[in-house]
Amino acid sequence: MSEKNFYLTTPIYYVNDKPHIGHAYTTILGDVLSRCHRLLGEPVHFLTGTDEHGQKVEQAAKKNGTDPLTHCDTYVVRFQDLWKRLKISNDDFIRTTQERHIVIVQKILQDLWDRNLIYQSNYEGNYCVGCERYFTDKDLKDGCCPDCGRKVDRLVEKNYFFKMSAFQQQLIDHINAHPDFIRPANRRQETLGFLKQPLGDLCISRAKSRLSWGIELPFDNDYVTYVWFDALVNYISAVGYLADDAKFNTWWPANFHLIGKDILTTHTVYWPTMLMAMGLPLPMTVFAHGWWLIDDTKMSKSLGNVVNPMDMADKYGIDALRYFLMAAMPLGQDANFSEEAFVTRYNADLANNLGNLVSRACTMIVKNFEGKLPAACEATDAEKELLESCKNAAAAWESAIVNMQLDRGIGEIMAAANAANRYFDAMKPWAMAKAGDTAGLARVLRNTAEALRVISGLLYPVMPTKMTELRQAIGVAEDKIAPTMSNLAQWNLMEDGATVKVIEGSLFPRIKFEG
Ligand code: MSP
Repeated sequence: MSEKNFYLTTPIYYVNDKPHIGHAYTTILGDVLSRCHRLLGEPVHFLTGTDEHGQKVEQAAKKNGTDPLTHCDTYVVRFQDLWKRLKISNDDFIRTTQERHIVIVQKILQDLWDRNLIYQSNYEGNYCVGCERYFTDKDLKDGCCPDCGRKVDRLVEKNYFFKMSAFQQQLIDHINAHPDFIRPANRRQETLGFLKQPLGDLCISRAKSRLSWGIELPFDNDYVTYVWFDALVNYISAVGYLADDAKFNTWWPANFHLIGKDILTTHTVYWPTMLMAMGLPLPMTVFAHGWWLIDDTKMSKSLGNVVNPMDMADKYGIDALRYFLMAAMPLGQDANFSEEAFVTRYNADLANNLGNLVSRACTMIVKNFEGKLPAACEATDAEKELLESCKNAAAAWESAIVNMQLDRGIGEIMAAANAANRYFDAMKPWAMAKAGDTAGLARVLRNTAEALRVISGLLYPVMPTKMTELRQAIGVAEDKIAPTMSNLAQWNLMEDGATVKVIEGSLFPRIKFEG
């Protein structure tokens, strides 16, 4: 794999429900990171998709009176439509019911079975239908599932097991030797803590008599495979494992598996041991972000506090939603979602700071220079702070991307927008216009436009639609609308005389919070 290629994945979402703001968050974050790496000039492959097998889907289909695949075909559209609306730039969308995925899962199962890495044995345990997991007696809470609290079924049955235990030490060694494998560091500690206990083997089969909606084991057609053993494989089946070597070698190992902290063990224990068994290199980083909470509690249907991303996008706009989600959550930590915080942030950063500057600068260029961008000129001492803060913002954004501190990076970009507003106010271009100081006026407006070019370019991965509008308004050439990092590190790159327009209404109209 070329060192520069960047392959990023999101979890594949269960299709049994409507996507909520948490799912939207992971996918938007994946999209922003993908766009950031494109900004850095790297070839990017961004994968998302849906996890369509398992008990929950089977049960949901039954409840709706349809067969599971029809159910999936109906529900998957909700995700695909939402991603389209949210301007998600995924290069592929995998569904685990696709043939390209099923055949690869079966090839892997057959290979591991042939090499005795999967074996058959009796299993006795407590099975939770809701969570699709077995629990030991010790795991249970008051005799019920420790995760969802439901009654568990006591089962003894023939099953198939993956020899996960054989890879415990190899996994520990890998985690210790690769500090970036599990990020942030507290999640690495969590997995290492989990690995202090002896690792058991993983039951990877489900009897068809109880669950038929899954991928059949190639060596026993009375069984389907455990949904996680199926789902995790999407990350390699989608890029051509055992099907298209050139493609696979281009993208694997993935640079980034983006996940929520709820699925840490499956991604940092099950998945790497599966890959070790297959003899494949491990992903470079599994990054677990925190949860969006409502008043410090997790969103759930039963509490009725689930935020629908479509509603937020309808009310406030797609880019405003993307901006808030990226700016307001320090990566790795939990954060509270509230509409009031959303509106406050929007008004402060987007309406009053950035949007206001765009409208002031464009209006004055249209009024005083017939909408033609004033020519580039030598920067003077007056521009020193402005240039510095734009340069800082570009450097800060680049390191924020690598260090997964997007909220801080956005803070630096907003600091540059603040500096540009300060510059504009201090220069008083309206007074220059009045006094007939055309050279001074041209200098201030050109430098403000350059600052806006840099700022909008840095924010382009976060707000692709609004920043396109901004860049068109200040006269960035059509072929430079999608920026590159190297352009953003330079000044005076726009064409003298480019056409500048005033955005009708305004780029970010102020919002009144209505509670
Ligand atoms: N299908 C599995 C993943 C298989 S990956 C091989 C699954 N799906 S899910 O639909 O439940 O989605 C889980 C993911 O959604 C979380 O890991 C997280 O990325 C995102 N979120 C769900 N709720 C969330 C919040 N409240 N806040 C932030 N993200 C959350 O698990």
